[in-house]
Amino acid sequence: MLPNPIDPATPLGLADLATLVVVMLAVANLLYYTVKTGVPPMPTRPVVRDAMFRLIPEDLAPNRIYDLGCGWGTLIFPLAKKFPDAKVIGIEVSPLPYLFCQIRRLAQPRSNLEIRYGDFNQKDLSDADLVVCYLMVRPMNPLSDKLGRDLKDDTIVISNSFALREWEAEEIEIVPESLSVWVYRYRVGNTDI
Ligand SMILES: C[S@@+](CC[C@H](N)C(=O)[O-])C[C@H]1O[C@@H](n2cnc3c(N)ncnc32)[C@H](O)[C@@H]1O
Repeated sequence: MLPNPIDPATPLGLADLATLVVVMLAVANLLYYTVKTGVPPMPTRPVVRDAMFRLIPEDLAPNRIYDLGCGWGTLIFPLAKKFPDAKVIGIEVSPLPYLFCQIRRLAQPRSNLEIRYGDFNQKDLSDADLVVCYLMVRPMNPLSDKLGRDLKDDTIVISNSFALREWEAEEIEIVPESLSVWVYRYRVGNTDI
């Protein structure tokens, strides 16, 4: 017969209790930042990432690439590999995904990758040549205004699933293998901002 896990005869050890507390604190921390930003740290699916990368113009030779809310690093690590001559900058405000990316960078060193802690709304993005993001509805409106102010002409913005308000996409790819999500490509100077 299997032992009953809630049998008072097998009480939780100190190590079990510490693990439980750490897991609960981590979950609470992730939930707190999800509510605060309106965006969960959900990674872009590989098929959608491929669609995002297909939308990067072939003749683009970016110097600076930003991922706004880089989560667990699903986009920044492949981007740093794909564009070895570019500086790839992931910005993340949620502490656990941020720490995860820093640790992941120790295992997968990329000299052209930088991970910055903080709110991308407070960062200067004016040197960007390419911006990628996967956010939610709520942050997209203020982000449309910020990108309209910060970005120089011809900067490319690629957004997974969520459109920029009042911007006209230059290209849209629908990904049938992933619930038909839409991936948008914008070019600054080619939009109704
Ligand atoms: C849906 S995840 C996407 C992660 C990654 N870009 C990808 O596509 O796999 C969005 C991330 O953006 C972060 N985020 C949301 N608002 C932010 C803000 N204002 N500043 C920095 N990070 C933010 C969230 O914490 C979350 O980890």
